[in-house]
Amino acid sequence: MHIVVLGSAAGGGYPQWNCNHPNSRRARNGDPAAPMRTQSSIAVSADGERWVLFNASPDLRQQINSNAVLHPHGALRTSPIKAVVLTNADVDHVTGLLTLRESQAFNLYATPRVQQVLAGNSIFNVLNPKFVQRVPMPLNEVLAVRDASGAELGFQVVPFAVPGKVALWLEDAFKGDNFGSVDEDTIALEVRDANGIPQFFYVPGCARMTPELAARIDGAELIFFDGTLYVDDEMIRDGVGVKTGERMGHMSVSGAEGTMAALRDSNVRRKVFIHINTTNPILIADTPERKAVEDNGWEVSFDGMQLEV
Ligand code: MLT
Ligand code: MN
Repeated sequence: MHIVVLGSAAGGGYPQWNCNHPNSRRARNGDPAAPMRTQSSIAVSADGERWVLFNASPDLRQQINSNAVLHPHGALRTSPIKAVVLTNADVDHVTGLLTLRESQAFNLYATPRVQQVLAGNSIFNVLNPKFVQRVPMPLNEVLAVRDASGAELGFQVVPFAVPGKVALWLEDAFKGDNFGSVDEDTIALEVRDANGIPQFFYVPGCARMTPELAARIDGAELIFFDGTLYVDDEMIRDGVGVKTGERMGHMSVSGAEGTMAALRDSNVRRKVFIHINTTNPILIADTPERKAVEDNGWEVSFDGMQLEV
Protein backbone atom coordinates (compact mmCIF):
# COMPACT_ATOMS: atom_id res chain seq x y z
CA MET A 1 0.00 0.00 0.00
CA HIS A 2 1.07 3.57 -0.66
CA ILE A 3 0.77 6.29 1.96
CA VAL A 4 1.48 10.00 1.53
CA VAL A 5 1.51 12.34 4.51
CA LEU A 6 -0.44 15.34 3.24
CA GLY A 7 -0.20 17.25 6.52
CA SER A 8 1.78 16.52 9.67
CA ALA A 9 0.79 19.41 11.98
CA ALA A 10 -2.00 19.61 14.54
CA GLY A 11 -5.00 21.95 14.32
CA GLY A 12 -3.82 25.40 13.26
CA GLY A 13 -0.87 24.03 11.29
CA TYR A 14 2.76 25.01 11.70
CA PRO A 15 3.22 27.89 12.13
CA GLN A 16 -0.28 28.58 13.44
CA TRP A 17 -1.60 31.88 12.09
CA ASN A 18 -1.52 33.78 15.39
CA CYS A 19 1.48 32.08 16.99
CA ASN A 20 4.65 34.03 17.63
CA HIS A 21 6.28 31.28 19.71
CA PRO A 22 10.00 30.84 18.87
CA ASN A 23 9.14 27.56 17.09
CA SER A 24 6.69 29.34 14.83
CA ARG A 25 9.12 32.19 14.17
CA ARG A 26 11.76 29.75 12.98
CA ALA A 27 9.35 28.35 10.41
CA ARG A 28 8.33 31.82 9.24
CA ASN A 29 11.97 32.83 8.91
CA GLY A 30 12.49 29.97 6.46
CA ASP A 31 14.82 28.03 8.76
CA PRO A 32 15.60 24.74 6.93
CA ALA A 33 15.47 22.89 10.27
CA ALA A 34 11.89 24.07 10.78
CA PRO A 35 9.86 23.43 7.60
CA MET A 36 6.25 24.60 7.58
CA ARG A 37 3.58 21.93 7.92
CA THR A 38 -0.08 21.75 7.01
CA GLN A 39 -2.82 20.20 9.14
CA SER A 40 -2.93 16.47 9.67
CA SER A 41 -4.13 14.13 6.97
CA ILE A 42 -2.80 11.20 4.98
CA ALA A 43 -3.69 9.82 1.57
CA VAL A 44 -3.79 6.03 1.16
CA SER A 45 -3.92 3.92 -1.99
CA ALA A 46 -3.72 0.22 -2.75
CA ASP A 47 -3.08 0.69 -6.47
CA GLY A 48 -1.35 4.08 -6.69
CA GLU A 49 -4.23 5.40 -8.81
CA ARG A 50 -7.28 5.67 -6.59
CA TRP A 51 -6.70 7.48 -3.30
CA VAL A 52 -8.52 7.71 0.01
CA LEU A 53 -8.05 10.64 2.37
CA PHE A 54 -7.86 9.95 6.08
CA ASN A 55 -9.37 13.22 7.31
CA ALA A 56 -9.91 16.35 5.25
CA SER A 57 -7.89 19.25 6.58
CA PRO A 58 -8.52 22.97 6.04
CA ASP A 59 -5.29 22.87 3.99
CA LEU A 60 -6.61 20.28 1.56
CA ARG A 61 -6.50 22.53 -1.49
CA GLN A 62 -2.81 23.22 -0.90
CA GLN A 63 -2.19 19.54 -0.13
CA ILE A 64 -3.76 18.47 -3.43
CA ASN A 65 -1.71 21.02 -5.35
CA SER A 66 1.50 19.87 -3.61
CA ASN A 67 0.98 16.15 -4.32
CA ALA A 68 0.81 15.14 -7.98
CA VAL A 69 -0.89 11.82 -7.17
CA LEU A 70 -3.98 13.82 -6.17
CA HIS A 71 -4.13 15.92 -9.34
CA PRO A 72 -6.97 15.31 -11.78
CA HIS A 73 -5.95 13.48 -14.91
CA GLY A 74 -7.86 12.16 -17.90
CA ALA A 75 -11.32 13.71 -17.97
CA LEU A 76 -11.94 17.45 -17.69
CA ARG A 77 -13.64 17.17 -14.30
CA THR A 78 -12.27 14.29 -12.28
CA SER A 79 -10.24 13.42 -9.20
CA PRO A 80 -8.22 10.43 -8.01
CA ILE A 81 -9.73 11.05 -4.54
CA LYS A 82 -12.36 8.33 -4.33
CA ALA A 83 -13.22 8.36 -0.63
CA VAL A 84 -12.65 10.20 2.63
CA VAL A 85 -12.54 8.50 6.04
CA LEU A 86 -12.91 10.69 9.14
CA THR A 87 -11.50 9.93 12.59
CA ASN A 88 -13.41 12.72 14.36
CA ALA A 89 -15.31 15.94 13.70
CA ASP A 90 -12.50 18.32 14.65
CA VAL A 91 -12.11 21.48 12.59
CA ASP A 92 -8.69 20.31 11.40
CA HIS A 93 -10.19 17.05 10.11
CA VAL A 94 -13.51 18.01 8.51
CA THR A 95 -13.29 21.50 7.05
CA GLY A 96 -11.41 20.22 3.98
CA LEU A 97 -14.69 18.62 2.97
CA LEU A 98 -15.76 22.09 1.91
CA THR A 99 -12.88 22.08 -0.59
CA LEU A 100 -14.33 18.92 -2.16
CA ARG A 101 -17.57 20.73 -2.85
CA GLU A 102 -20.12 20.21 -5.50
CA SER A 103 -20.44 17.56 -8.09
CA GLN A 104 -17.59 15.11 -7.71
CA ALA A 105 -18.45 11.57 -6.69
CA PHE A 106 -16.79 10.10 -3.61
CA ASN A 107 -17.76 8.16 -0.50
CA LEU A 108 -17.58 9.85 2.88
CA TYR A 109 -17.06 7.45 5.77
CA ALA A 110 -17.46 8.45 9.43
CA THR A 111 -19.00 7.01 12.57
CA PRO A 112 -22.78 7.45 12.87
CA ARG A 113 -22.11 10.11 15.53
CA VAL A 114 -19.81 12.15 13.26
CA GLN A 115 -22.19 11.69 10.31
CA GLN A 116 -24.93 13.10 12.54
CA VAL A 117 -22.78 16.13 13.33
CA LEU A 118 -22.11 16.75 9.63
CA ALA A 119 -25.78 16.25 8.76
CA GLY A 120 -26.72 18.80 11.41
CA ASN A 121 -24.57 21.50 9.83
CA SER A 122 -26.00 22.68 6.56
CA ILE A 123 -22.72 24.11 5.26
CA PHE A 124 -21.73 20.52 4.45
CA ASN A 125 -24.63 20.43 1.98
CA VAL A 126 -22.06 21.80 -0.48
CA LEU A 127 -21.29 18.10 -0.86
CA ASN A 128 -23.95 17.34 -3.45
CA PRO A 129 -25.87 14.27 -2.21
CA LYS A 130 -26.36 13.13 -5.80
CA PHE A 131 -22.62 12.53 -5.96
CA VAL A 132 -21.33 12.17 -2.39
CA GLN A 133 -22.53 9.18 -0.41
CA ARG A 134 -22.27 9.53 3.36
CA VAL A 135 -21.63 6.07 4.71
CA PRO A 136 -22.00 5.44 8.47
CA MET A 137 -19.06 3.42 9.72
CA PRO A 138 -19.93 1.28 12.77
CA LEU A 139 -17.17 0.74 15.31
CA ASN A 140 -15.26 -2.55 15.29
CA GLU A 141 -16.62 -3.76 11.95
CA VAL A 142 -14.41 -4.55 8.98
CA LEU A 143 -15.25 -2.20 6.14
CA ALA A 144 -14.07 -2.59 2.54
CA VAL A 145 -13.50 0.98 1.38
CA ARG A 146 -15.34 1.69 -1.89
CA ASP A 147 -15.73 4.46 -4.39
CA ALA A 148 -19.11 6.03 -5.06
CA SER A 149 -19.90 3.44 -7.76
CA GLY A 150 -19.46 0.67 -5.21
CA ALA A 151 -16.13 -0.57 -6.55
CA GLU A 152 -13.72 -1.76 -3.85
CA LEU A 153 -10.58 0.34 -3.55
CA GLY A 154 -8.39 -2.55 -2.48
CA PHE A 155 -8.18 -2.20 1.27
CA GLN A 156 -10.21 -2.42 4.45
CA VAL A 157 -10.46 -0.33 7.58
CA VAL A 158 -11.54 -1.32 11.06
CA PRO A 159 -12.59 1.76 13.05
CA PHE A 160 -12.24 1.48 16.81
CA ALA A 161 -12.70 3.91 19.69
CA VAL A 162 -9.68 5.34 21.49
CA PRO A 163 -9.65 7.57 24.59
CA GLY A 164 -10.43 11.09 23.47
CA LYS A 165 -12.82 13.96 23.51
CA VAL A 166 -15.62 15.39 21.42
CA ALA A 167 -14.53 18.12 18.97
CA LEU A 168 -13.79 21.46 20.65
CA TRP A 169 -16.66 23.14 18.79
CA LEU A 170 -19.12 20.49 20.07
CA GLU A 171 -18.12 20.55 23.74
CA ASP A 172 -21.06 20.79 26.13
CA ALA A 173 -19.97 22.11 29.52
CA PHE A 174 -23.25 20.92 31.06
CA LYS A 175 -22.42 17.31 30.29
CA GLY A 176 -19.68 16.84 32.87
CA ASP A 177 -15.94 16.33 32.76
CA ASN A 178 -15.87 14.77 29.32
CA PHE A 179 -18.12 17.45 27.72
CA GLY A 180 -20.57 14.84 26.48
CA SER A 181 -17.96 12.81 24.57
CA VAL A 182 -18.96 9.36 23.38
CA ASP A 183 -16.89 6.49 21.95
CA GLU A 184 -17.70 7.41 18.37
CA ASP A 185 -16.22 10.91 18.77
CA THR A 186 -12.57 9.79 18.57
CA ILE A 187 -11.57 6.76 16.63
CA ALA A 188 -8.45 5.15 15.26
CA LEU A 189 -8.25 3.14 12.07
CA GLU A 190 -6.71 -0.25 11.60
CA VAL A 191 -5.95 -0.64 7.90
CA ARG A 192 -5.89 -4.08 6.29
CA ASP A 193 -5.22 -5.13 2.73
CA ALA A 194 -7.97 -6.61 0.55
CA ASN A 195 -7.29 -10.04 2.05
CA GLY A 196 -7.66 -8.77 5.59
CA ILE A 197 -3.94 -8.78 6.40
CA PRO A 198 -3.12 -5.91 8.83
CA GLN A 199 -1.01 -3.15 7.26
CA PHE A 200 -0.91 -0.14 9.59
CA PHE A 201 -2.72 1.93 12.22
CA TYR A 202 -3.76 5.57 12.02
CA VAL A 203 -4.19 7.19 15.46
CA PRO A 204 -3.97 11.00 15.07
CA GLY A 205 -5.71 11.71 18.39
CA CYS A 206 -5.46 9.71 21.59
CA ALA A 207 -5.83 10.85 25.17
CA ARG A 208 -4.35 7.83 26.94
CA MET A 209 -2.63 4.55 26.25
CA THR A 210 -4.81 1.70 27.44
CA PRO A 211 -3.67 -1.90 27.80
CA GLU A 212 -6.16 -2.79 25.04
CA LEU A 213 -4.71 -0.26 22.63
CA ALA A 214 -1.11 -1.23 23.40
CA ALA A 215 -1.96 -4.89 22.81
CA ARG A 216 -3.82 -4.10 19.63
CA ILE A 217 -0.95 -2.23 17.98
CA ASP A 218 1.75 -4.60 19.22
CA GLY A 219 3.36 -6.37 16.28
CA ALA A 220 2.20 -3.76 13.77
CA GLU A 221 4.29 -2.93 10.75
CA LEU A 222 3.56 0.80 11.03
CA ILE A 223 1.65 3.19 13.25
CA PHE A 224 0.95 6.87 12.93
CA PHE A 225 0.33 8.29 16.39
CA ASP A 226 -0.81 11.51 18.06
CA GLY A 227 2.28 13.74 18.48
CA THR A 228 0.44 16.91 19.52
CA LEU A 229 2.50 17.98 22.55
CA TYR A 230 5.91 17.04 23.90
CA VAL A 231 4.90 17.79 27.49
CA ASP A 232 1.37 18.12 28.80
CA ASP A 233 1.65 21.76 29.92
CA GLU A 234 3.91 23.09 27.17
CA MET A 235 1.42 25.66 25.92
CA ILE A 236 0.95 27.03 29.44
CA ARG A 237 4.69 26.87 30.23
CA ASP A 238 5.53 28.73 27.04
CA GLY A 239 2.82 31.33 27.66
CA VAL A 240 0.87 30.72 24.46
CA GLY A 241 -2.23 29.00 25.81
CA VAL A 242 -4.22 27.94 28.83
CA LYS A 243 -4.93 24.30 28.02
CA THR A 244 -3.05 21.14 28.86
CA GLY A 245 -2.85 18.21 26.48
CA GLU A 246 -5.04 16.29 28.89
CA ARG A 247 -7.74 18.96 28.59
CA MET A 248 -7.54 18.75 24.80
CA GLY A 249 -7.68 14.95 24.66
CA HIS A 250 -4.05 14.37 23.68
CA MET A 251 -1.47 12.31 25.56
CA SER A 252 2.04 13.75 25.51
CA VAL A 253 5.04 12.41 23.63
CA SER A 254 7.35 12.46 26.68
CA GLY A 255 7.02 11.65 30.39
CA ALA A 256 6.16 8.60 32.43
CA GLU A 257 2.60 8.49 31.03
CA GLY A 258 3.66 9.59 27.57
CA THR A 259 3.66 7.83 24.25
CA MET A 260 7.37 7.05 24.07
CA ALA A 261 7.26 5.38 27.47
CA ALA A 262 4.01 3.57 26.72
CA LEU A 263 5.35 2.02 23.51
CA ARG A 264 8.98 1.60 24.53
CA ASP A 265 8.71 -2.18 24.75
CA SER A 266 6.17 -2.65 22.01
CA ASN A 267 7.02 -4.56 18.93
CA VAL A 268 6.05 -2.03 16.24
CA ARG A 269 8.40 -1.86 13.27
CA ARG A 270 7.84 1.77 12.29
CA LYS A 271 6.45 4.43 14.66
CA VAL A 272 5.62 7.85 13.23
CA PHE A 273 4.32 10.95 15.01
CA ILE A 274 1.66 13.02 13.26
CA HIS A 275 -0.71 15.84 14.35
CA ILE A 276 2.13 17.87 15.89
CA ASN A 277 1.33 21.18 17.55
CA THR A 278 3.06 24.44 16.64
CA THR A 279 4.67 24.50 20.13
CA ASN A 280 6.15 20.99 20.02
CA PRO A 281 9.97 21.06 19.77
CA ILE A 282 10.04 17.77 17.83
CA LEU A 283 8.94 19.82 14.83
CA ILE A 284 12.46 21.19 14.62
CA ALA A 285 15.35 19.06 13.38
CA ASP A 286 18.06 20.38 15.73
CA THR A 287 16.30 20.16 19.11
CA PRO A 288 17.17 17.73 21.93
CA GLU A 289 13.52 16.66 21.94
CA ARG A 290 13.73 15.61 18.28
CA LYS A 291 16.87 13.66 19.12
CA ALA A 292 15.09 12.02 22.06
CA VAL A 293 12.19 10.77 19.94
CA GLU A 294 14.54 9.52 17.24
CA ASP A 295 16.72 7.79 19.84
CA ASN A 296 13.51 6.09 21.02
CA GLY A 297 12.85 4.71 17.55
CA TRP A 298 10.24 7.26 16.47
CA GLU A 299 10.04 9.21 13.22
CA VAL A 300 8.53 12.67 12.93
CA SER A 301 6.31 12.83 9.86
CA PHE A 302 6.59 15.73 7.45
CA ASP A 303 4.42 17.01 4.64
CA GLY A 304 5.06 15.00 1.50
CA MET A 305 6.51 11.99 3.39
CA GLN A 306 5.89 8.81 1.41
CA LEU A 307 5.66 5.37 3.00
CA GLU A 308 5.04 1.91 1.60
CA VAL A 309 3.71 -1.08 3.52
C1 MLT B 1 -7.51 18.91 18.60
O1 MLT B 1 -6.92 18.04 17.96
O2 MLT B 1 -7.42 18.96 19.84
C2 MLT B 1 -8.36 19.88 17.87
O3 MLT B 1 -8.06 19.85 16.51
C3 MLT B 1 -8.25 21.22 18.47
C4 MLT B 1 -8.95 22.26 17.68
O4 MLT B 1 -10.03 22.03 17.14
O5 MLT B 1 -8.39 23.37 17.58
MN1 MN C 1 -6.75 18.18 15.89
